[in-house]
This record gives sequence, C-alpha cells and structure tokens, in this order.
Amino acid sequence: MFYPLLRRLAFTLGPETAHRLSIAALKLLQAGQAKPALTHPLLTQDLWGIRFPNPVGLAAGYDKNAELPLVWSRLGFGFAELGTLTAHAQPGNPRPRIFRLPRHGALINRLGFNNAGADAAAARLAPLLSTPRPVPLGFNLGKSRTTPIEAAADDYCRSCAAVFPFADYLVVNVSSPNTPELRTLQEPERLARLLDALLTRIHELAHAANTTPTPLLIKIAPDLTDRQIVEVVRLARDVGVAGLIATNTTVKRPGLGLAEYEAGGLSGRPLAARATEVVRLAYRASEEKLPIIGVGGIFSAEDAYERIRAGASLIQIYTGMVYEGPFLARRIVRGLIRILEREGVSRLPQAVGSGA
Ligand code: FNR
Repeated sequence: MFYPLLRRLAFTLGPETAHRLSIAALKLLQAGQAKPALTHPLLTQDLWGIRFPNPVGLAAGYDKNAELPLVWSRLGFGFAELGTLTAHAQPGNPRPRIFRLPRHGALINRLGFNNAGADAAAARLAPLLSTPRPVPLGFNLGKSRTTPIEAAADDYCRSCAAVFPFADYLVVNVSSPNTPELRTLQEPERLARLLDALLTRIHELAHAANTTPTPLLIKIAPDLTDRQIVEVVRLARDVGVAGLIATNTTVKRPGLGLAEYEAGGLSGRPLAARATEVVRLAYRASEEKLPIIGVGGIFSAEDAYERIRAGASLIQIYTGMVYEGPFLARRIVRGLIRILEREGVSRLPQAVGSGA
C-alpha cells in the first residue's frame, strides 16, 4: 500500500505540521462534490433519532475548528465529531505539544483545546444550514482555560448555543487532561449541576427553534476508577443524558518505558485495553439504556468488533488514522461487514454488548 511511504514522509515533519498539512489536503477534497456515505444494511443504526450509515466515526480533536464538516464520508466515516470548541478562542499550550511514539502505535498530546472559539466556528458553518450533509455531525464542547471552574456551566452553555443549529449530537467533554481542573467536573455534584445547566439550555434552544432537543453525550476519562465510572453512568442516565463516549486520553502510561513520560494525554494502542474495559463497565452499569461510543486504540476491524461486543454501539478513531492512514475508516467498515457475515450476525445492534 502507498500509505507506508506517505507516512515515512509525514513522519519527517513535526506532528503538528503533518496534521496541518492533512487539514489543508482535506479542505481541497472537501471543495469537490460531497460523497454519499459508505453504508450497508448490516451496519445502519438509528440512535437518538439519528440515522448512522455506518458505526465508524472521527474522534474529537482532529477537526478542532469544525473546518471540514462535509469531507468525512469520502474517507469512509459514518459520522464525525468536531471540536473541542470552547466559548473563547484560545492558543492552547506552548509547542511542542504532540509527540509520536511509533514503537507503541501511540501519541501523547497536551494541546490544551487550541481553537478559534465556538462563535467563529458557527460563523464559518452558516452555509451548512442549507447544505445536505452526508454524515451526522457531533460537536464536542470544552471549557475555556480562562473561565474559572465554578463558572464552567456558562462557558459550555455559550458554546452550546453557538453550535446548536449545526449539531446532530452534542458532547460535554469533562475528560481532557490538558485543561487544569477540567476533570474535576466528573465529580458527581459538579457533574450534576453542569449537566442540568446544559440540558436546560438545550431544551430552551430546541423550544425556540421549534425542534426536538439535541441529544447530549458525556465524554469520560479512562482514569476514573471503576466505581466512579459506574457513578457517572448512573447519574448520566438519571438526569437524561443520551449517551456516553468512552474514553478520552489517559494520563497513565500503560506499557511504556521511563523515557516516554512526556506530560499529556496518551492515545493509541496502549489505551485500548482500559478503554475496552470502561466500555464494558459502562454498558453493564447503564443496563443498556445509554448507547456508548467506544474510542481508544482502535486500529482495525477486529479492534472495532471487540469494542462493539464490549458494549459500544458506535466507535471512533484518531491515533489509528495517524499510523494506518486516511482510509482506515473505510477498511474498518468493510472489515466489519465481513466479520458480521462470518459470525452470522444479521444486524449490528445484535452484536452490541454480546461480549459484555
Ligand atoms: C485528542 N482527543 C481529544 N478529545 C476530545 O474530546 N477533544 C479534543 O479536542 C481532543 N484532542 C485530541 C488531540 C489529539 C492530538 C489526540 C491524539 C487526541 C482524544 C481523542 O478524541 C480520543 O478520545 C483519544 O485519542 C483515544 O482515541 P485514539 O486516538 O486512541 O483512537
């Protein structure tokens, strides 16, 4: 395949430069005609009132500024999550802030929500309102670094209002390790207040727009204890959160040597085992009432299928794409079709949680 060569070239560049180039290339691709989604009767699902053509999504953090809402179907994705966006534009942490760990199939990043702000994204997205979209779009919301943790809800609500018209689903990100104190929003009392504020805001926005409320998902960290995960899941279910995204990057360094302790969140292969475990725990704790998006270290259709059996209805990829190439989503979709046929599964939801 030609990606190994392209990857050798890309890896001679710094990770952020390579990423910027890929965004520029995808913008050119997006300028062409939108491509219908890759789909198959075995793989379509209706979740939260949204039709997903296939279960493979782009994870948050790749298209932080929501510049590429229409390109993802070309790479085989069945949905895409844009952001993280914050209420205020912010530069993120000083560089270097992304590190490749090729021997481990991993990345460490401490970007810190670098983005142009939710209002800027919304302004750029305006034409989307009159354009058919090939795949559903989620918007991932974070807290601006300058906003004190006590005022977090206002910050999230502001971003929520900005992107509301464009979002098929919304994500409250309380799990990035690179914004000080952000993950304390996973504590039950703080989380309950935050979710309540956001759900109220979503209801107001839906009422004003004469539409149904957009589903709100919560993205959690793999570093919560098992008990905390169960607590978060029950709370989410009780207050009316629609689903869960498990997981964000880890601050732990499973299986890495001492030299690889750059600060930041670790993603990719070393995250897979814990991310799968969190999906399984959450699936059991939710009593199958909260659909889960599984993410972390998925590099193949087999990985994706294992995550689905652990309880994920949908999966997302990021680091896998860096190592396996831009068409990893397409390969996973095709591989999943083969696996489902081989296993005699007649529709994807039958496999969800079958190994939990
Ligand atoms: C991320 N991730 C991330 N997540 C999020 O909710 N908001 C974000 O802005 C980002 N930014 C980001 C940047 C970079 C460079 C990476 C590698 C990751 C986390 C990502 O969405 C995902 O949860 C993890 O990376 C685990 O999946 P993979 O990468 O192992 O497939």
